[in-house]
Amino acid sequence: MEKQNIDWGNLGFAYVPTTYRYVSNYKDGKWDDGALITDPNVTINECAGVLQYCQQVFEGLKAYTTKDGDIVTFRPYMNAERMIDGAARLEMPSFPKERFLDAVDQVVRANADFVPPYGSGATLYLRPYIFASGPVIGVKPSKEYQFRLFVTPVGPYFKGGAKPITICVSEFDRSAPAGTGHIKAGLNYAMSLHAHEYALTHGFDENMFLDPATHTFVEETGGANFLFITKDGKVVTPKSDSILPSITRRSLVEVAEKYLGLTVEHRPVRFDELEDFAECGLCGTAAVISPVGRVVAKDKVITFPAGMEEMGPITKKLYDTLTGIQQGLIEAPEGWIRKIDC
Ligand code: PLP
Ligand code: COI
Repeated sequence: MEKQNIDWGNLGFAYVPTTYRYVSNYKDGKWDDGALITDPNVTINECAGVLQYCQQVFEGLKAYTTKDGDIVTFRPYMNAERMIDGAARLEMPSFPKERFLDAVDQVVRANADFVPPYGSGATLYLRPYIFASGPVIGVKPSKEYQFRLFVTPVGPYFKGGAKPITICVSEFDRSAPAGTGHIKAGLNYAMSLHAHEYALTHGFDENMFLDPATHTFVEETGGANFLFITKDGKVVTPKSDSILPSITRRSLVEVAEKYLGLTVEHRPVRFDELEDFAECGLCGTAAVISPVGRVVAKDKVITFPAGMEEMGPITKKLYDTLTGIQQGLIEAPEGWIRKIDC
């Protein structure tokens, strides 16, 4: 199979349409058989539930080319499960786990020419989602849905690649104090856009959300969880019911404990603890682990000792081990890697 003629090393995190996507529609209480299609456009009724009340849930995962030339995905069943949780929270039907995995395999296989080569620094990002396609005018769940999965080759999420970024803590919350709208998997991403745009227009790379009730605890950014390293080498990850349970973060906890012998604390993290940490990173499928060099709040600038030039040493070890597992350089824990027969 010949690869697409793409400058893999210079890809950013942007949508590049590929040849095939997978679609299955839900009507009269059941999903149809589903199929690969080539049309990237969706035509829906003007009153569709997704357009009126934003009834939509999405996931994100990646396919990688390993050192041996295999194409693999990373823990896709975790995304299948989280999508079921998210769908339930939004009164949407579950897309069965086995069908989710089959759709992942089919779309990646059909677009194998878009999977970036080993060592290129790029990966194939998979975006499965379910949206309400049936008309609703009263505030209630739709009776019809579409599951769709498209893929797009991507490079680093942040422009500088592995260069540390600067994050601001703006006054804009993502949600109301009660957690409305983004409890567990029911995140409302549109609510994070204003804070994100504010950060970019003020010269920062991202925005850190604090807990909206007290503005005391660290939550996450619009698209990644936080990970801190203490001066004595412990990994600390913020615990909160209103952040996304990141699969990358949960994987890094296992990597830290089992591969690197580090101690991990998963607990509420107060914002005023930040100046005691040695390193900071953002973790997620898209972010992988992006080092954070500086956090700027209204009355405080915190520059982590790891600095603005390079990833901190423990963050780097975590990064190398996780990406090594994903690229087949380091043996993966049982069941983490799903090979796709191409
Ligand atoms: N937090 C938010 C708000 C996200 O959108 C994402 C990305 O999916 C993450 C965290 C990281 O989650 P994961 O590691 O499962 O990609
Ligand atoms: C991911 O990492 O998959 C995300 O969903 C983050 C962002 C692109 C929304």
